[in-house]
Amino acid sequence: MNFAKAPLLALATILGAGAVSAQHLKPEEMIIARQAGYRTMDWNMDKIKAQLEAPADKFDKKLVLNAAKVVQAIANSGMGALYAPGTDKAAGEVKTRLKPEFFDPANKEELTKIAMNFGTQANKLAEVAEGGDQKAIQAQFGETGKACKGCHDKFRAKEKH
Ligand code: HEC
Repeated sequence: MNFAKAPLLALATILGAGAVSAQHLKPEEMIIARQAGYRTMDWNMDKIKAQLEAPADKFDKKLVLNAAKVVQAIANSGMGALYAPGTDKAAGEVKTRLKPEFFDPANKEELTKIAMNFGTQANKLAEVAEGGDQKAIQAQFGETGKACKGCHDKFRAKEKH
């Protein structure tokens, strides 16, 4: 057991990373990778939103399903592995919005809850999208968005630093 790596592994486990490893990545690469993951989820959430705002006869179920599957896949990809201790600070030129509170042991329980809830909501979104019912998707889209915001309110800073 390499104890120096233990905190990172513990955190990765909390965030559902399981056996996912990112130890070959430099801190700046972790920050870039997680920001890209969130950005890609955001883009796909926007695609779903646009469909939900479209008239019912223009509602594109297939597009919504594809977008929901991307969000689900990223949510289950083990992003916890991209949160090495110290990555709440800029790595060279690469800035981050991660709050130091993320690494505070006092917040561990809440972080676990937030991360697990997000996984649950993203899985449900994909499940409901499979069914293709616009109203059901609307409701679950709202829940998923709340799960994103729940984490941001607590662990994402307003500005990059
Ligand atoms: C477990 C916590 C958590 C969840 C869940 C989460 N985010 Fe985030 N998000 C963050 C953190 C932390 C950052 C800042 C990352 C950084 O700058 O290193 C961030 C950054 C972002 C960014 C900015 C990325 C950039 O280009 O810098 C977007 C957009 C975003 N999130 C959208 C979403 C969306 C959409 C969802 C839900 C589908 C979501 N996030 C779920 C924690 C979370």
